[in-house]
Amino acid sequence: MDGAATGGEVELDGLTKKYGTVEAVRGISLNIRRGEFLAILGPSGAGKTTLLNMLTGFEKPTSGAIRINGRDVARLAPHKRGIGVVFQHYALFKHMTVAQNVGFPLRMRGMSMREQRSHIQHALELVKLEGFAARFPDRLSGGQQQRVALARAIVFRPALLLMDEPLGALDKRLREHMRVEIKRLQRNLGATVIYVTHDQNEALTMADRVAVMNDGVVEQLGTPDDLYERPASAFVADFVGETNFFTGRAVLDADGRIRVVLDGDRPEHRREVENAASLRPGSGVEVGVRPEEVSLLPPEHAEHDQAPAVLGTVSDVLYEGATALHVVETPIGDLSARLSLKNLRETRWAVGDRVAVHWDARAARGYPAADRAS
Ligand SMILES: Nc1ncnc2c1ncn2[C@@H]1O[C@H](COP(=O)(O)OP(=O)(O)OP(=O)(O)O)[C@@H](O)[C@H]1O
Ligand SMILES: [Mg+2]
Repeated sequence: MDGAATGGEVELDGLTKKYGTVEAVRGISLNIRRGEFLAILGPSGAGKTTLLNMLTGFEKPTSGAIRINGRDVARLAPHKRGIGVVFQHYALFKHMTVAQNVGFPLRMRGMSMREQRSHIQHALELVKLEGFAARFPDRLSGGQQQRVALARAIVFRPALLLMDEPLGALDKRLREHMRVEIKRLQRNLGATVIYVTHDQNEALTMADRVAVMNDGVVEQLGTPDDLYERPASAFVADFVGETNFFTGRAVLDADGRIRVVLDGDRPEHRREVENAASLRPGSGVEVGVRPEEVSLLPPEHAEHDQAPAVLGTVSDVLYEGATALHVVETPIGDLSARLSLKNLRETRWAVGDRVAVHWDARAARGYPAADRAS
């Protein structure tokens, strides 16, 4: 167990878990690279914990395979899989000291007391709790307790570290601090990390890649900027960041391109969208535009050759500091425009102002209307 741990490579192949008639995980296939930090992001009930529990061995897959470093782990007991686990609630043993808690996995593995001591010492150093070995958990802050849980998960140098909402119980400041700590720890250990969260900020800031789960399946797997800038479905666009959605219909133009006519818009406004190839002419469409991609202009700017504006009335202005969110009522629906302070230095808008709402065609993504699972 000495020397630096090397990250494990994980392959999930058609992984499925049914509880009676509930399909919690539905045929997930996914490769996680050695040393990668993969976040699994999804709403409550998406199947994140179920997926993790199959990896650790606490749950048995209904079908499909899990391979760690090329080895099928189906018949391997949890403690033989070389996986460190951190749960949302630290689950420390209250009657044991910090050192005893951290040493627990080593005792499970039958390590001698002498050997244990140096491993515990090293793990506590990694989480910066050197002086706390003799304390009991109830004499520690929430963040310190979570660090003990982390130390316990890494003490046996696992190739794979699984974390299920590990920062969920901490306050915002501590959470942000722990994000940095966990990233640093991962770099030092070289471990592969699978990190479950329903906090998109956590996923986007920490992960190399993010798997967005919904209803038992992975809706999109990609880098944080892939997800944010090129969401593959209306669900992802909605769940990761904020998106204005407009309904409409796809039309095939004389030039052979598919464009969109939005409900409530002037019918001659045939708008270009990204993703147009995925739309079927004549069928319903949802068009998503991020609030920060929307600009507001004086109403006389309504006629714009490339992308026609929509006229509307400002109904709310929410000051956010560096930005201000403007809610605008328009014939295509209410929408939000997030304007930067820099932008607002030129023109300030007030409730009741008439505005021309504008966005770049490249900032609008079209999705088939029936696509959204929720
Ligand atoms: N032991 C079980 N028996 C029956 N159904 C279960 C069991 N465990 C989970 N489920 C169901 O499987 C689905 C996925 O649950 P899971 O706990 O994996 O979701 P999750 O993504 O971790 O959600 P959360 O963010 O709330 O923790 C849910 O519909 C849940 O009710
Ligand atoms: Mg869960």
